[in-house]
Amino acid sequence: MLEKWPWSTWLANQGSVMVVVDPPVKPYVERLLHRIGAESKTVTVLERSISERDKTLDTVAALYRDFGEERVTRDTLVLAVGGGVLTDLTGYVAATYLRGLRWIAVPTTLLAQVDAAIGGKVAVNTEFGKNLVGAFHLPEIVAIDPVLLASLPIKEWRAGFGEVIKSAVIAGGTLYDRVRHNLEPLGKMTSGWASIIGETARLKAQIVQMDLYEQDQRMFLNFGHTAGHALENYFGYGTLSHGEAVGLGCLVALRLSEILLGLERRVREEVESWLLRWGLPVNTTEFDSTALINIMRQDKKARAFGLQWVLLKGIGSPVVVRNVDAAVVREALDVIVRR
Ligand SMILES: NC(=O)c1ccc[n+]([C@@H]2O[C@H](COP(=O)([O-])OP(=O)(O)OC[C@H]3O[C@@H](n4cnc5c(N)ncnc54)[C@H](O)[C@@H]3O)[C@@H](O)[C@H]2O)c1
Ligand SMILES: [Zn+2]
Repeated sequence: MLEKWPWSTWLANQGSVMVVVDPPVKPYVERLLHRIGAESKTVTVLERSISERDKTLDTVAALYRDFGEERVTRDTLVLAVGGGVLTDLTGYVAATYLRGLRWIAVPTTLLAQVDAAIGGKVAVNTEFGKNLVGAFHLPEIVAIDPVLLASLPIKEWRAGFGEVIKSAVIAGGTLYDRVRHNLEPLGKMTSGWASIIGETARLKAQIVQMDLYEQDQRMFLNFGHTAGHALENYFGYGTLSHGEAVGLGCLVALRLSEILLGLERRVREEVESWLLRWGLPVNTTEFDSTALINIMRQDKKARAFGLQWVLLKGIGSPVVVRNVDAAVVREALDVIVRR
């Protein structure tokens, strides 16, 4: 809750602040600024609606101009309040303007709260692909307030839920149990969801702390993403949301884990029940599996390491497996074909 924000006192003691805010959450920022006594400080608020299509260097350049006009200096603190697109792009501006400014992320979508705003990866897209230009630039604070999600459309909850599933199976333990026993509908902010969000965010923060540059454990966060990214691309961006594609990708990775590592089938059945409970797809119309595997091979991470999968030996025990045979992948993909 806003009233409980321990870091607002810290914020109140900062010098000038440059806020970039997503329009749906502008009222929240106004309350926050009022609370920190912004009237007596140098605070600039830029309200910017930035879609995935505008997550480009042109939009970055426009923000550089705004920063120039507002006389941003090395002491200015940047506050990025919004979804993952806004935090990725504003974080990139903070990483590069004046060779790096301190910044705070206030993520306001489920995806951004459990994933995008945590871990210091900031980036924009180019015509050749997503997130190709970026940096590692950790925010000073990631302030997660689940109350913000009360206004989030259900479609955006679905977009983030794939990351919750992925995190629950790679972490196991209480997060897995919480997701399993939570019966609250998606889109209704409850204490059950707030705990799940908090734990998922903490898990990512812990993994990033161990492996910022994705040499080792951070790769586990790609669970469900090898097939997920390919499905998103194959069906066309916007047909399947990222979360829906990752949900399906988790089913494929779990099936592959059954074939290659002897994982019990009940894990996949459990995850399938979560997808059904929260209205995400568990299968798709027929697809060309050879074309899908070719898309996987084009992936920027696959190009560096050969086709690699994060698989599961058991709940909470992920492993990275390289050079998986295409015939086995095809067999695993069969599990999400609608019959
Ligand atoms: N940096 C990373 O590690 C990382 C990880 C995963 C994803 N990402 C990036 O995250 C981006 C996707 O982020 P996203 O799913 O948050 O999408 P988004 O930022 O496009 O937000 C979705 C929509 O929700 C609106 N919105 C935001 N907060 C709201 C609220 N509280 N109430 C109502 N509406 C609200 C936004 O204006 C937008 O229209 C992608 O660009 C992806 O590459 C980054
Ligand atoms: Zn993802």
